[in-house]
Amino acid sequence: MSKFTEHEIIVCQDIEELNRKAAERFIALAADAISRSGRFTVALSGGSTPKALYSLIASPAYRERLDWSRIHLFWGDERCVPPDHAESNFRMVQESLLSRIPIPSENIHRMMGEKEPEQARQEYEEYLKQSFRLPPGEVPRFDLILLGLGEDGHTASLFPGSAALNEKEHWVATVYVKKLKAQRLTLTLPVINAAAQIIFLVAGQSKSAIVKKLFGADSVGYELPAGKVRPANGIVTWLITQDAAAGLAVT
Ligand code: 6PG
Repeated sequence: MSKFTEHEIIVCQDIEELNRKAAERFIALAADAISRSGRFTVALSGGSTPKALYSLIASPAYRERLDWSRIHLFWGDERCVPPDHAESNFRMVQESLLSRIPIPSENIHRMMGEKEPEQARQEYEEYLKQSFRLPPGEVPRFDLILLGLGEDGHTASLFPGSAALNEKEHWVATVYVKKLKAQRLTLTLPVINAAAQIIFLVAGQSKSAIVKKLFGADSVGYELPAGKVRPANGIVTWLITQDAAAGLAVT
């Protein structure tokens, strides 16, 4: 039995197939969530991999199959920079998706990277409480969280060795990433692991070593931040390109 029996791994021929599969799942999950609860809540991944997916979803063949008035976009993490900064995850989503879809501005829930980090953290946590209309003690359950995978096994802005990995109470953490000399905001594992659906988007030969470390027979997967993404009551799907999956035994 794989260590990650609750995880579905889908190896895709190339990034184009990965994006098509992700976009189709996005549409299916949106329809399901909207029919069940009247809305679809998604926490978006940052980084470079998802940019092409967001552009595909924004293309007419996909965007016209989505009821944007019912879709609420959040961020899984953000760099502590202004929203128009080159490093901003919001700006990346703005350019690839938001500028091309008819989504109401009140459905866009960005982390305020331009604010003092602790203030932005508190405000986003409060924002989640209000948006999910949660009774005390309950954790926001996103319908979908999109995540990437760093070569060191980080996901969102949860990096190896970070104290944020042990955060049990707060839903949002501020982290200082030493090797990047950068301050970030990130959802924490309690929120990530409360999600109904999680899709990891992993592409490129540069990720093959970390993918093998995560899923290999003698893997140390559980110790890596991405390996700690194990929702108690949710489904994790790994969409991985062939070159990134090269180290996995073909089953
Ligand atoms: C970010 C992401 C981060 C990213 C990984 C993979 O803000 O950068 O949240 O966790 O998903 O670093 O990045 P790539 O997809 O660009 O390889």
